[in-house]
Amino acid sequence: MQAYMSADPLPSPSTDAALHSRALTAHVQAEIGAAHGWIDFARYMDLALYAPGLGYYAAGAAKFGDAGDFVTAPELTPLFAATLARQVGSLIAETGGELLELGGGSGRLACDLLLALDALGSLPERYAIVEVSPDLRARQARAIATLPARLASRAVWLDALPGRIEGVVLANEVLDALPVHLVVWHEDGLRERGVAAGENGFIFEDRALTHGALRERAQSLPVSPPYVSEINQRAGALVQALSRNLVRGALLFIDYGFGRSEYYHPQRSQGTLMCHYRHRAHDDPFFLPGLQDITAHVDFTAIAEAGAAGGLQLMGYVTQARFLIQLGITDLLARAQPSSGDYFRQAAAAQKLLSPAEMGELFKVMALGRGVAPLAGFAAGDLSRLL
Ligand SMILES: C[S@@+](CC[C@H](N)C(=O)[O-])C[C@H]1O[C@@H](n2cnc3c(N)ncnc32)[C@H](O)[C@@H]1O
Repeated sequence: MQAYMSADPLPSPSTDAALHSRALTAHVQAEIGAAHGWIDFARYMDLALYAPGLGYYAAGAAKFGDAGDFVTAPELTPLFAATLARQVGSLIAETGGELLELGGGSGRLACDLLLALDALGSLPERYAIVEVSPDLRARQARAIATLPARLASRAVWLDALPGRIEGVVLANEVLDALPVHLVVWHEDGLRERGVAAGENGFIFEDRALTHGALRERAQSLPVSPPYVSEINQRAGALVQALSRNLVRGALLFIDYGFGRSEYYHPQRSQGTLMCHYRHRAHDDPFFLPGLQDITAHVDFTAIAEAGAAGGLQLMGYVTQARFLIQLGITDLLARAQPSSGDYFRQAAAAQKLLSPAEMGELFKVMALGRGVAPLAGFAAGDLSRLL
């Protein structure tokens, strides 16, 4: 996800967008009222992003691309999907299984992957998508319908995770969009940071952390007070469920984040919560609820642990730059006609995907698998970064 920090004031919304945000705000306020004045942050984030018909992902805001709030790797260039297809294609050939994409966004990745897998001769029988947003599901269907029928006909949308998965599960920037709890490590004990109604919108309010599993998890982390950060219980539960259901194949997670010691590093004492609005990044989750994305970085050590709890092997953990280079993104770029306008556009996009100053280092790729051979994209990965 790309957006930029700036000290300038954030742009104002249109009248319709402001009305939409007010409707979501009223919905959240009603829930806070019904919960005696306080909800945990994960519930706030869930409503702000996914409340039916109102949340940022659930409703019709543009979200992706120039007209939206941020750009993801598949939106930047088809080179991303073409490179990824080399890893996905070999797993499909090895397992004879299907491809399951979680959180398909605009459908760009599905379209480009189907085209690239077709070119490699390794199309899956079925390209299944699990997408929680009805708006995005409709957008994905419209995008995929523009493909040749023999490709489009492979796409199906599922309402829940399949009980038995053979093949590849792919999630690009999905774990970062799952609601997180906010925890405050205080000298005098643990607190959970939640949301209450203030005079002008919402305010943070801390309460003693009484929730058993969350408290246990917070106590187990290498943190010294004073410190505030996130704990993503949903991501762990999702990865464990996928891991249990994976009969043979691999789960591939691509997202921004770190191993645990970097995530909960003393210098990151305010956590990683980040909001995106019209290509600007900031840290106020109460700004125009429903009109902006809210995310947190991924603790990849927790993802590896969830996979292990579901019986999967950690097959690799590398930076996005290393993964794409191992799989030959530079050869693919070289196939574009040098000196053509397209070549310069693709080269600039590849630079964003690979540069340590942009997405190359912060974004990581993790593979968890069962019963498959070592994966080419992860050769020379450094698992010690997960400690
Ligand atoms: C930041 S967007 C990324 C979209 C796309 N993968 C891309 O890279 O452009 C997050 C996506 O995950 C979806 N999502 C969020 N929670 C989900 C869940 N539990 N299961 C499936 N999709 C989910 C959102 O609706 C959205 O499509």
